[in-house]
Amino acid sequence: MREIVTEQQPARPDAAQESVFMRTCRGQTVERTPVWIMRQAGRYLPEYRAVRDRHEFLTCCHTPELACEITLQPVRRLGVDAAILFSDILVPLPGMGVDVRFEPGPRLSRTVRSAADVAHLRIPDARETTPFVFDAIRLIRRELPAGIPLIGFAGAPFTMAAYLVEGGGSKTFTTLRRLLFSDPTTAHRLLEVCTETVVSYLTEQVRAGAHAAMLFDTWAGLLAPEDVQEFVMPYARRATDAVRAVAEDLGVDVPTIYYAGESAGWVEACRDSGADVIGLDWRLRLDHARARLGPDVVLQGNLDPAVLLGSPDTIRERVRAVLHAARGPAARRGSAGHVFNLGHGILPETPPDHARLLVETVRELSGGPE
Ligand code: CP3
Repeated sequence: MREIVTEQQPARPDAAQESVFMRTCRGQTVERTPVWIMRQAGRYLPEYRAVRDRHEFLTCCHTPELACEITLQPVRRLGVDAAILFSDILVPLPGMGVDVRFEPGPRLSRTVRSAADVAHLRIPDARETTPFVFDAIRLIRRELPAGIPLIGFAGAPFTMAAYLVEGGGSKTFTTLRRLLFSDPTTAHRLLEVCTETVVSYLTEQVRAGAHAAMLFDTWAGLLAPEDVQEFVMPYARRATDAVRAVAEDLGVDVPTIYYAGESAGWVEACRDSGADVIGLDWRLRLDHARARLGPDVVLQGNLDPAVLLGSPDTIRERVRAVLHAARGPAARRGSAGHVFNLGHGILPETPPDHARLLVETVRELSGGPE
């Protein structure tokens, strides 16, 4: 084949669309299991710490060139099958009227606990309040090696609401849980506002070129099953529906991924998020998750991040066990419907070589015959 180079190049076919990650997310047959790592761009990488020595965390999120550089770091060092935008789930909050600082845990300038507090929130047009995120995505799309897809993300509405009510991180999020049961009307109104914010923010990422869209619902695991059905899934569903609608308009297929922490007690409910891919932590075996979720969803996960603090032999053994559980008795060869990942973000203490070993081991063990 000959390539004709002209001044104005027509849009090139996007090789990332046919990557092993994208095909797995669509439930297609693949030759091996794709792998990426939650928080793959972060403090365990010396090159990340070198950037952070010179720039504040939020400056990195707000500066497209820095966000792009950091996004690419794990792609270069680890050879992962997908990049994830470098940003944070709390980046849309200032557009709602709530400032955020990282110390290093998040601290919000105010809390949202009453109907009046909710009424004061703005529902931002993401193009106006976070244009740097979409500039970063366009830049990353230009700089990424061909064939590597880019995952965009947002906090799921419930987890965003959790931070707004609490004003920062918490072990128990008691203030949030008090609101759910003492003033459910206000809680639902807050979730509406968060949903509209997430929809604008995430669909704009898709318009800017994100290949897949992920929702992080870190704190959904705090709730009982019936409360997940009431306060979590309907709102996550609206976000995945909105992504699907925008993708259809654009004529692209944008898989959605829904990750909740500690979902083992109610994992069936994750189907109601409407996502194509369900992310799981390590407290549930993937073969058990598969039995409970059915054959048609793709699973993502779920190695305990602490395993990467163990020996190389232990890492290999535990990677093999996750791959084995993902295949299960019913899976077709080469199409386990599985994206390998950790069950939560990589720990800052992780030796980078161990992260690399993880990626290499997934490649090696999932590619060959079992
Ligand atoms: O995965 C990636 O590589 C992309 C980047 C990413 C970050 N945060 C960068 C970050 C993503 C996807 C997130 C999501 C995020 N942020 C979640 C959901 C996933 C999860 O971990 O449960 C949550 C709950 C947050 C909120 C948040 N951001 C907290 C609680 C903290 C401080 C504590 C901590 O883990 O550092 C952050 C800061 C943050 N976000 C850092 C990074 C790399 C560390 C900032 C630094 O460099 O000091």
